[in-house]
Amino acid sequence: MKDHNFVNHIRPRFIPDGVLTILYTFCLGGLSFLAFVILGVTGFLLMFHYQPGDGTGFGSILTIASVIPYGRVIRNLHYWAGQLMVVTVNLHMLRVVWTHSYKSPKQLNWLIGVALLILVLVLDFTGYLLIGSQESGAAATVAVNILGLIPGMGMGLAQIMFGEPSALSGSTLVVYVWHCVGLPIFALFLQLYHFWRIRRDGGVRPL
Ligand code: HEM
Repeated sequence: MKDHNFVNHIRPRFIPDGVLTILYTFCLGGLSFLAFVILGVTGFLLMFHYQPGDGTGFGSILTIASVIPYGRVIRNLHYWAGQLMVVTVNLHMLRVVWTHSYKSPKQLNWLIGVALLILVLVLDFTGYLLIGSQESGAAATVAVNILGLIPGMGMGLAQIMFGEPSALSGSTLVVYVWHCVGLPIFALFLQLYHFWRIRRDGGVRPL
């Protein structure tokens, strides 16, 4: 019988044998979520001093790293947690492939995982644009040009994602809002659904 009690769901009285075997998962999904939490906390702190915009993005990062107390530590934590998450999410996906955990009944969670992977990569990319350096501007130009190749809606998509494509340093207000609010909220809810599905699909253990 299915248990509909939410408290029992997040803290069940018993779990199936074998789901805590660390050598099966290497806790790569858990590590990805830990990185996500660190990114959320440090990203929130960075928002107090970061100023998006063509001329201001790069300068405000220099201020954060050299003037604001603990700014350098917080920025480095944010940067390295982002890199770690890209690595652990990819390794987590490889583990899922290795253990054939994408098969029925877990196929929906695999697809949710694919969406999460794309979100993590887009978050990493938009974070890189917010540095506001010449390289970020070049990366934004390349992305806008690639999106522009999509017939009919390409330039519209580029504008939704990057704002006014003519003013490119990478650090536009539109990219900032996507990176700090839109994408993380979407990723958070998708991860919560991912976790809920794991339990509903019978837990993490060999099929
Ligand atoms: C934000 C990124 C992600 C987070 C935080 C996350 C988190 C987790 C966690 C905590 C688990 C439990 C087992 C474990 O730790 O390995 C899990 C299982 C699973 N994940 Fe992810 N995941 C993410 C991305 C992905 C991706 C990219 C895929 C595949 C495309 C994926 C597919 C799955 C599947 C199919 C399971 C069930 C595995 C099983 O039952 O053995 N996840 N995920």
